[in-house]
Amino acid sequence: MKSVTVRTNANISLIKYWGKRDEKLFLPTKSSLIITLDALATTTTLEYSSQPHDAITLNWQPHSQSSVQKIIDFIHLFRTTYSISDHFVIKTHNNFPTGAGLASSSSGFAALAIGLATLCRLNLSQRELSILARQGSGSASRSITGGIVIWHKGELPDGTDSYAEQLFDEHHWPELRILVVVINDATKKISSRDGMRITTTTSPSYGQWLKTSEKRMVEIIPALAAKDFLHVGHIAEQDWSGMHTSMLDASPCLDYWTTTSYIVMDTIRALRTKGTPVFFTTEAGPNVKVLCFHNNASLIKQTLASIPGVISIIESTVAGKPSITVT
Ligand code: PMV
Repeated sequence: MKSVTVRTNANISLIKYWGKRDEKLFLPTKSSLIITLDALATTTTLEYSSQPHDAITLNWQPHSQSSVQKIIDFIHLFRTTYSISDHFVIKTHNNFPTGAGLASSSSGFAALAIGLATLCRLNLSQRELSILARQGSGSASRSITGGIVIWHKGELPDGTDSYAEQLFDEHHWPELRILVVVINDATKKISSRDGMRITTTTSPSYGQWLKTSEKRMVEIIPALAAKDFLHVGHIAEQDWSGMHTSMLDASPCLDYWTTTSYIVMDTIRALRTKGTPVFFTTEAGPNVKVLCFHNNASLIKQTLASIPGVISIIESTVAGKPSITVT
C-alpha cells in the first residue's frame, strides 16, 4: 500500500456536546446527536515518510502552529496506542473555512484516524475508529460513519464506552436539507476547548441544561425515526437554546454571535411564524445552520442571502459513509 486518501464529512449537532468530564481523553459530560453534512468535506492523503519525522500540509498553505500541533499530538497518540514507529506524510484540505465554527476538526480528525488505521492495516472497527478520532477532537468521533449519529457519553473512566454510532443512514430522510449560513469565516477567538472549560466551571445554568438535554435525547430519536420535522426542529432549538444560555451565563460571558447571526436567527423565526417549516442551530461560532426541506430551501436561501453580513450559504444533504481510496 503506497498511499491512502480518505474523504470524511463534518457534522452539526441537534443535541449538543459542550463540556468534558475528562479533558485528556475527550470524554463528554453528555451524549450528543448529529447530522453529517455531505457538502462539508475533508480530504486527507497519507503516505509513509522516508524521514524520521511527520510532514503535514494543511489547506495547501502556511498554517497556524497550533492547528498543526494538534495534528502532530494526535499522530503521536496513534503511534503510542498501537505501538507503531513509522512517520507519515499527510496532506489534508477542507472544502470550507477551517476553524470558523464549521466543524472542520470533526471531519479532519475522523479522516486522520481512518487514514492512519488503514495505512497501517490495523483493521479497526467503527467503534474503535470513533474512540481514536474522539481523542483528536470530541466531535470527530461522530464523523466516522456518515448519516445521523449518536455519540454515547459513556461512563467508564478509560473512555472505552464513549463512542459514536449511526442511527439512520443518508437515505432515511432524503427531503431533509441543512443550509450553512456563513457569516464570518475568520478564526474564532475562544477555542471550543477553553469555552467548554469556562462554561462547565463557571456557568450556574450548565447543570440544568445537562439534565434537560438527557430528556431531549430520549425524545428526538423516535421523532427522527418518524421523520416528524416539527418535533425534531423544536427539540433541536431547545437544546441549542440551553447550551447558549449556559455559555452566556458563564464568566466571562461567551457570546460567539455577531449582529448578522442575530438577524439571521430572527429571520428564520419570522419565516416559521409565516408557515415555513424551518429551524436553526449554531455552534461555537457566528455561523447559523438551518434545518429545512428541499422544496423550501431556495426561498429560505434567497431570504437569508439578502441580509448584510451573510457571506455565503452552503446547501447540504445528509452525508453517506466516508470514502477510502488505496493505491
Ligand atoms: O469540535 P469540538 O470537538 O471542539 O466540539 C465543538 C462542539 C460544538 O460544535 C460547539 C457543539 C457540538 O455538539 O458539535
